[in-house]
Amino acid sequence: VKALGIDVGGTGIKAALVDTKTGKLATERARYPTPRPSTPRAVARLVGEVVTRFGYTDPGLRVGLGFPGVVRQGKVLTAANVSRKWIGVRADALFRKATGLEFVVANDADLAGLAEMRFGAGRDRKGLVIMLTFGTGIGTAFFMDGRLVPNVELGHLEVNGREAETWASERARIEERLSFKRWSKRVNAYLNRLHAYFWPELIILGGGASKNFEKFGFRLEVPCPLLPAELRNRAGLIGAALAASDVT
Ligand code: BGC
Repeated sequence: VKALGIDVGGTGIKAALVDTKTGKLATERARYPTPRPSTPRAVARLVGEVVTRFGYTDPGLRVGLGFPGVVRQGKVLTAANVSRKWIGVRADALFRKATGLEFVVANDADLAGLAEMRFGAGRDRKGLVIMLTFGTGIGTAFFMDGRLVPNVELGHLEVNGREAETWASERARIEERLSFKRWSKRVNAYLNRLHAYFWPELIILGGGASKNFEKFGFRLEVPCPLLPAELRNRAGLIGAALAASDVT
């Protein structure tokens, strides 16, 4: 069973057809820069192009889409790293109008976490597992005994008087030209703060930064297991495709 998964990020939009039984990509991953400004209209237009490019056009097909903000029942409630115009928008309806297809829209980190729990580092893990995505922002997802607790927003936690995601995200590393050594100190402070509050069984580190895990993972020290996302930065679009195929 193949489904189209789309991961909308603050910097890039990624898409692929995914085999939802195995979690493997059934096509190359396509990547587009996020439109600037990233208004609902501009993103909907791009999503329309993506759907056409993949030839995913039979009505009745469903698309899963990860959005970088709080999403409840298809409606966007926050937008920290994309246009504020998204707030209050029924994203599922907007994309349906743009493409003629049904959309399942949810928080990007929640969807990345779903994929890691099913096919990656979180497989068969009980208790509280925290999935983190380090990219333009910091996305967070909680899984209790494998079940998602949606819309956990701990990227905005304050650490040392700063908002964690503006200080410790992958974007902060790149924009401030931090070495992995310096950046990992920030990540470590953040992870330890999270640990002190939630005492998870496992932390999974994903997002764009997971590509470089070998360069900084060994510097991180938390009192619980910490694993890189096995699906790396593809977790978001794989999870999106899963969401499209799971909802009935
Ligand atoms: C948003 C989250 C999102 C994360 C990663 C944060 O700024 O508030 O909802 O998951 O960025 O995109």
